[in-house]
Amino acid sequence: MIGYKIKFNGIDRLYNDYSWRLTLRAKSVWQSGDVLQGQYLSELEKQIAKKYKRKYAVGVGSATDGLYFAMKAVGLTENSTIICPVFSYVATAGAIKRLGAEIHFVDTDSNGNIGDWQGYGLPNGVVYVNMFGNPAAYQRLKNYCDSHHIPLIEDAAQSQGASYGQLPSGAMGDISVFSFDPMKNMPSFGGGGMVLTDRKEVYDRIRSLRRHGISGKDTYGYNSLISEDHANQLLLLLKKFDRLQRMRDKVCKRYRKNMPEVQMVCNSPGTNSSNHKLVILVDRRDELKAYLDTKGIETKIHYSKTLDTKNIGKYPNAERLCAKALSLPIYPHLKNKEVDYICANIKEFLHV
Ligand SMILES: Cc1ncc(COP(=O)(O)O)c(C=O)c1O
Repeated sequence: MIGYKIKFNGIDRLYNDYSWRLTLRAKSVWQSGDVLQGQYLSELEKQIAKKYKRKYAVGVGSATDGLYFAMKAVGLTENSTIICPVFSYVATAGAIKRLGAEIHFVDTDSNGNIGDWQGYGLPNGVVYVNMFGNPAAYQRLKNYCDSHHIPLIEDAAQSQGASYGQLPSGAMGDISVFSFDPMKNMPSFGGGGMVLTDRKEVYDRIRSLRRHGISGKDTYGYNSLISEDHANQLLLLLKKFDRLQRMRDKVCKRYRKNMPEVQMVCNSPGTNSSNHKLVILVDRRDELKAYLDTKGIETKIHYSKTLDTKNIGKYPNAERLCAKALSLPIYPHLKNKEVDYICANIKEFLHV
């Protein structure tokens, strides 16, 4: 269906909310002529490190690059074995593949977070995801990694704004990686990522990798930065982030209040979700998706297959999610009447 009444992603509405300020911020950079490697990215790194209780933050071109650099920076190589949940966006495993390391995929719990990873032999590192913005079992992961002296890497692409107890996502790993992809909670109008750590040598290495090895010991590196216009806009969105999260939380609450009969993915006790995605679990998922389409409601499937498609049948929890999960529109500027309209249509279809 072309021209949805309710689109899945709301970055256009975010722009409209702050349009003149966002435009001015980009324009002032273009007019200055300092469009790359300038003051705004440095300032953004400083402010993000502070907000998420980290010593260092490094802006990179995407979270995918950030995950790859993170693994390289802690010494993981093509000879390493790395644990990774089997249910995620392909980039999580893609970054490990790019390194050339072996992946030990792990099934999830019923909400899509990493399940029991032990019994796979000792890995050289763990990459995990706070799926849909719901924090995974961080303390158990940390205890495991600390006791075996292996690095824990938090793929926080979906969980900026979430917390585990008092600890914010972004601080739940030796290295954590945010994404500013246009679908994310703090989206940039040009994508981007941020790597956070407390380790100086990791910080130095990632700064070197992101810019052709220029500032470090690497002979070669990559070209992976956030441009100054986008960094300057992200500084505004960082200032507004808590407000935007409160608006997003309200949307989530309304969905839950409207549809208590419908099963939804949820976060564990003691955690706060970033409410990145609102995911319902239904039997006739594909039919419901097509039905909502006819009503002008755009939905998405996260994800239709696991990351280990060669071993179908090995991951019952993840495969159940692949068959049943449907992501509904959720963003700060979604209106009450739109949420009500979406819920009414779902309930009509399900006869609940
Ligand atoms: C869990 C997860 N990891 C990694 C990524 C990659 O992020 P980016 O698009 O910034 O490379 C995404 C983005 O969709 C994601 O959802």
